[in-house]
Amino acid sequence: MKKVLFALGAALFALSTVAGPAAAQQQIVIKFSHVVANDTPKGKGSLKFKELAEKYTNGKVKVEVYPNSSLFKDKEEIEALQLGSVQMLAPSTAKFAPLGAKEFEALDLPWLFKDEATYTRAMKGDVGKWLFKKLEAKGITGLAYWDNGFHMVSANRPLIHPADFQGLKVRISGSKIADRYFREVGAIPQIMAFSEVYQALQTGVVDSCENTPSNYLTQKFHEVQKDITVSNHAHLQYAVIVNSKFWNGLPADIRGQLQKAMDEATDYTNSIAVKENEDALAEIKKSGKTTLHYLTDDQKKEWQTAMAPTYKWAKGRVGQEVLDLLAKELQIKMN
Ligand code: LMR
Repeated sequence: MKKVLFALGAALFALSTVAGPAAAQQQIVIKFSHVVANDTPKGKGSLKFKELAEKYTNGKVKVEVYPNSSLFKDKEEIEALQLGSVQMLAPSTAKFAPLGAKEFEALDLPWLFKDEATYTRAMKGDVGKWLFKKLEAKGITGLAYWDNGFHMVSANRPLIHPADFQGLKVRISGSKIADRYFREVGAIPQIMAFSEVYQALQTGVVDSCENTPSNYLTQKFHEVQKDITVSNHAHLQYAVIVNSKFWNGLPADIRGQLQKAMDEATDYTNSIAVKENEDALAEIKKSGKTTLHYLTDDQKKEWQTAMAPTYKWAKGRVGQEVLDLLAKELQIKMN
């Protein structure tokens, strides 16, 4: 009996020491879900945010990062954010249509950004803020834009001229703009969750895909695609978003510390993105498992001409306003 009482007492003591500090601290947990590997710009960025957020809040906030679609797949994660079962995401802006924010798809226009510097300048301007406003009514707050880089495109045959796309089943991530530019060259685009792409390529459910070098390497797409064209035909970027109710409900000091952590994680992510992709491309080349192709200026012009009607079509999809904002920011003419 004595033994039983002692054991009971010890158990109660253990419970109070565990529950005590935790209850006093009321630790806030942020579930941060994303679909790519840890060893990518977004993967590293989310881990940097975790590190800084936990440091600046003195452990009052715990960030749980779930990479590689381990918690939710593409479309599900957006629904989960709205329902509040996950607090933070960083989806590519190509995946915002289910939120009813089609305007984000303007960023997927082919050859919109001349280079990384142009992309960065544009997103720091009005258009980035304007796009985030579109999320407010959906119960979502935009915190930052994270860079990845330019898309390559691949198949089991060289893609050099627009005609080479004829009849190819191409996996796309969700944007109707990407759907359009692939249709303009005769391909058959198909939306598919990121986590399903490798197997779909391997089994021939799709023939082709587009993505950045870091995503090709970490998902091993290059092992199941014989030819990759380093075309840089479109850009992949992310919006880091939170559930507004959760975010606005945080104590102001904590929210400030988290915003500081996010700002620094953003600078970090955007500073490593180019190099991460260069390194990934070098590794893909070194693997010898695929052939890399580069377009000549004339070939690039052929692609641009073939895909150009996407711009006119985009007006009906994303609206004139965002196109005007982008044209102003990029000092280009959209017709
Ligand atoms: C894709 O689905 O291809 C990308 O959005 C994956 C990612 O988040 O980088």
